[in-house]
Order: sequence, then C-alpha cells, then structure tokens
Amino acid sequence: MSLRIAVVPGDGIGVEVIREATKALQAVAEAADRKIVLTHFEWGAEHYLKTGETLPEGAVGMLQDGFDAILLGAMGDPRVADNRHAAEILLGLRSRLDLFVNYRPIRLLHERLCPLKERGPADVDFVVLRENTEGLYVMMGGNFKKDTHDEVATEIDLNTRKGVERIIRHAFEFARRSGRSEVVMADKSNVLVHAHDLWQRVFKSVAAEYPGILTRHLYVDNLCLQLVRDPRQFQVIVTSNMFGDIVTDLAAGLQGGLGMAASGNIHPGRLSLFEPVHGSSPDLAGRNLANPMGAILSAALLLEHCGWSEEARRIETAVGWAVDHRRATADIGGTLGTREAGETIAACLR
Ligand code: NAD
Ligand code: IPM
Ligand code: MN
Repeated sequence: MSLRIAVVPGDGIGVEVIREATKALQAVAEAADRKIVLTHFEWGAEHYLKTGETLPEGAVGMLQDGFDAILLGAMGDPRVADNRHAAEILLGLRSRLDLFVNYRPIRLLHERLCPLKERGPADVDFVVLRENTEGLYVMMGGNFKKDTHDEVATEIDLNTRKGVERIIRHAFEFARRSGRSEVVMADKSNVLVHAHDLWQRVFKSVAAEYPGILTRHLYVDNLCLQLVRDPRQFQVIVTSNMFGDIVTDLAAGLQGGLGMAASGNIHPGRLSLFEPVHGSSPDLAGRNLANPMGAILSAALLLEHCGWSEEARRIETAVGWAVDHRRATADIGGTLGTREAGETIAACLR
C-alpha cells in the first residue's frame, strides 16, 4: 500500500528542512520496498505576495480526498507583517481539519544537547499535548478607535467544554496507551477564573474515569520553572493552545533547541498535519545552516500516524545515529550544512 503525502514547505528554512525530510521519507520507503507519493504545494508568503491567495479555495476538500497526511515546513515572512498567510494556511488547516491535538514529544537524544547539567536521555522524555483549535487562537476580538490615543484592543480566550474535554481525555488515553503513569495539567486558573476554572473542573471529572493514572496540577508559570529545575518529573503535560506554544519552545531547549523539536497536529483517525516546532528563521534562511532533524523527526511522527511504525522507528534510529556521531548542523555542535546533515540520514536509511 502506498502513502500519499501533501508537502507544504512554506517559507524560509521550511523549504530547506522539508527537502531533507522528504529525502528521508523516500529513502525509508525504498529500503522497505514500499511507495510514498509526494505532492508539493507552494503555499506560503511568496505565493501570497504574488497572487493575494493564501489557502486556495477547495484546498481543504482536496487534501481530505487525496492524501493520507500533510507535511509542512514553516509559515512566516518579514514581508508579511500581519502574518495573514500563516493564519490562513497553518492555523486555518489546524482549525478547518479540526486537528485538536498538538502532539509535541520532548526527547533528549544525547546528553551533550541538553543545556542542563548532568541530564541525559533518561531525564528528558515527556510529551506535551497542546489544545490546538481554540483558546487565544480563535482570532476573535477587535480594535476600537484604532490609531488614536483612546484605542482599545481585545483578544478573546475562547474555551469550550467540548474542546477542553477532548484534549484532556486524549491526554489520559495517551497516558494509558503508552504506559505512562501521570498526567499534569497546566493552566492559570488563579487569574483566568472563568476560562481556566473550566479546565480545572473538566480535568477533575475526566481524571475520575482513569483511576489508574495519577494527576497533578501546576500553574503554567511554575511549570516553566519545574521543567528547567528537573524535567524528570514529567511524562505527559496537557495545556491550552497559547501556553502549549510557549512551553514547547522552552521544552525544545531541553532537547537541544528548536532544530530538534518535532510535532503533529492530529485528529485521531483522520487526515493530520506534521511539522517541526520551529518557524521560518529568517536569520538562517537560504544559508544551508538550519538543522533538518526536527523536520525529519516530524516525518517519522507522520509515518507512525499512518501506521508505518517500523519505518518511523528506522528514521528515529537514523537521526539518533547522526546525533551520536556529530553528523549534524552547528546548532547542536556539528559542522555539516542542512543538506549534508539530511543526506547523511538518508544514506543511513538506504
Ligand atoms: P523561529 O523558530 O523561526 O526561530 C527562533 C530561533 O531558533 C532562531 O534563532 C532560529 O535561528 C533558531 N532555529 C529555529 N529553527 C532552527 C533550526 N531548524 N535549526 C537551527 N536553529 C533554528 O522563530 P521566530 O524567529 O520567532 O519566528 C520566525 C518566523 O517564523 C515568524 O514569522 C513566526 O511567526 C514564524 N513561525 C512559524 C512557525 C510555524 O510555521 N509552525 C513556528 C514558529 C514561528
Ligand atoms: C507554532 C507556531 C505557531 C503557533 C505560529 C506560527 C502561528 O509558533 O506552531 O508553535 O503559535 O502555533
Ligand atoms: Mn510556536
């Protein structure tokens, strides 16, 4: 059975790292005598600036009908100051495909990569499950008396019981399925006394259905401290959309930086989207400097989601080998360029 993947490289280093991720996908498929068909879509800043189009009309249906998964690079370009194309393409797909789970596994592959003293792979191994369709990402709000001294600006933090419940339930199901014993929920219910009180109540009621799994609550500011103080405390963290965004950049730091961090935007059982956690990095773009490992590991998450577990493991092993042998980019202490680092991993897979 072949796999049909929609590839959206996007902007900046997105293009460079996705090129290497697709090489890894083709290499692992060839080695297994299986077939992956990649179809590229040039949606991003360049296309938007040229045509005014972000996500083309009919794109969502076309993706749902024609593909098993989506692999995306990054969206963001200094020439698009309001980030409109990112909102409509990336956030648009998260919302319109109802990808309510943002799955961000944090695994340290080598102690050399961790900025904390005396911490190795056994100490940094947890998963952040970020709510991915609501919260502060619904873009509701507005400006009143814009550009005057009396200006008022609002942004709504929208939390639905259904939305909160399904991500929290997913966290417990994930913990149970993967043999993890505790779920930590992080919020700011001491201040957001309406929206995050909902998180508190839902967390308690869903937890009662999973008596075998321990639970803990942390305010998100304390979570940031605890992650740096001792990441061994964490197995599964569930949190809201905006907090999950911030916490996973911090967590990426524990695994060697944004270049190492992978993610899946998932609706279980449905078409889902995989992307590195990092952005388009205008500072590195076009210089063959970006670390492709986060993108390559995201491709492994994609394969896992599509049931190609053996091939996913092979990619993870190849990345681990490259890290161990310093066959990597400068951000994690290597001397290779993006292309050379990707080529090493692809060769290893072949
Ligand atoms: P960024 O993730 O692009 O970069 C942050 C820092 O991490 C930079 O110093 C960068 O050089 C470094 N870095 C990131 N990826 C790296 C890699 N693969 N290898 C080595 N170093 C890496 O975040 P930013 O600078 O805040 O944002 C740049 C643009 O990207 C903005 O337009 C932002 O909105 C967008 N963005 C997009 C996504 C996405 O599409 N998922 C995610 C984050 C940011
Ligand atoms: C991420 C990014 C996005 C987010 C941006 C680009 C909209 O930072 O995927 O982590 O905030 O979700
Ligand atoms: Mn982010």
